[in-house]
Amino acid sequence: MSGNVTFTMIKPYAVKKNFVGPILKIINEKGYRIKAMKMTRFTRERAEAFYDVHAGKPFFNELVDFMSSGPIVAAILEKENAIADFRELIGNTNPEKAAEGTIRKLYASSLTANAIHGSDSDENALREGSFFFSEMEQY
Ligand code: GTP
Ligand code: MG
Repeated sequence: MSGNVTFTMIKPYAVKKNFVGPILKIINEKGYRIKAMKMTRFTRERAEAFYDVHAGKPFFNELVDFMSSGPIVAAILEKENAIADFRELIGNTNPEKAAEGTIRKLYASSLTANAIHGSDSDENALREGSFFFSEMEQY
């Protein structure tokens, strides 16, 4: 994939606040093509598996509770240099540190409810996308 395909999730509180439309508008305007998309929901067990790299950390339970608290929008996005560019577009994990104009600056509520996820490597994009899209391999 060499950096051109990434995986994203619009997280529960942003979905609840009706930010799906405005966030997708930014994603479209920045030139990402939506290759696959669905509104779905994590069970607690699937959220634990998705975030297993954080198991045992102090924020793990809050993260898993939050991510399984309501619907999310999962999508596979394609653009040249998508992985790195999308991380820049979403902004710092902590919305208080996120740069002006980033999605987290605009739509995040807290470190946990930080609006959106973006994969940080080809390997993780494939791993994470495969949680939701069985056809991930073809991208
Ligand atoms: P994602 O795109 O959601 O993966 O965020 P990230 O790559 O910017 O952060 P990371 O993968 O390190 O952490 C995953 C999620 O765990 C973050 O989005 C936060 O919601 C949460 N998280 C990470 N570090 C902390 C922390 O120190 N405190 C709290 N409360 N939450 C954290
Ligand atoms: Mg991450």
